[in-house]
Amino acid sequence: MNRRLGVLISGRGSNLQALIDAVHEGRLNATIAVVISNRPDAAGLERARKAGIEALCIDHQGSTSRDEHDRAVGRELRARDVGLVCLAGYMRLVGAPLLEAFPNAILNIHPSLLPAFPGVDAQRQAIEHGAKVSGVTVPLVTAALDGGPIVIQRPVPVLDGDTPETLSARILLEEHRAYPEAVQAVLEGGWRIEGRRFVRSVSGASR
Ligand code: GAR
Repeated sequence: MNRRLGVLISGRGSNLQALIDAVHEGRLNATIAVVISNRPDAAGLERARKAGIEALCIDHQGSTSRDEHDRAVGRELRARDVGLVCLAGYMRLVGAPLLEAFPNAILNIHPSLLPAFPGVDAQRQAIEHGAKVSGVTVPLVTAALDGGPIVIQRPVPVLDGDTPETLSARILLEEHRAYPEAVQAVLEGGWRIEGRRFVRSVSGASR
């Protein structure tokens, strides 16, 4: 697979930073070709620039429709020969123009064990539901919200005294480990989609 990544963000960008660090440390054999935010104030843009990575804002408020915004993002990604798109705290639904431009080549990171607690505020949802375990999921992105084939999941316990903030912080540590591993696994190839399942044919692939 083409190892040029495009990372889409909306805010803080700590998962972007985890990918940058993993590339620098040789744990992730990839090049981050471009970082695109849909919000001009996203702190992640600065993280990218500090690392010498091209960073763009394509403000969704400047587009007349979701499809138009997605097409604009897709054009910038293709212009940089991106092979895999990584959503990293990208708080927008990905529509048909991007999904069709990057079939089975868009990854997301979500702070729960999907299919539990999709959408926004997953950590708060887990606490309010009374779940004893939540965690991290890295799925491929499809038209089904947080419903694509699962590449990696990691459990994180929910403690009795947890607030959304404390649980989010513990899950985030796990996110930063899981995302580079999932991206590396996808780039390595040797996997296929069977129904809803992401299946790896290489050993050590069960997590
Ligand atoms: C992360 O916790 C990520 O899992 C979550 O947003 C946060 C972004 O943090 N994403 C979602 O909830 C997607 N539905 P970051 O900007 O520091 O990477």
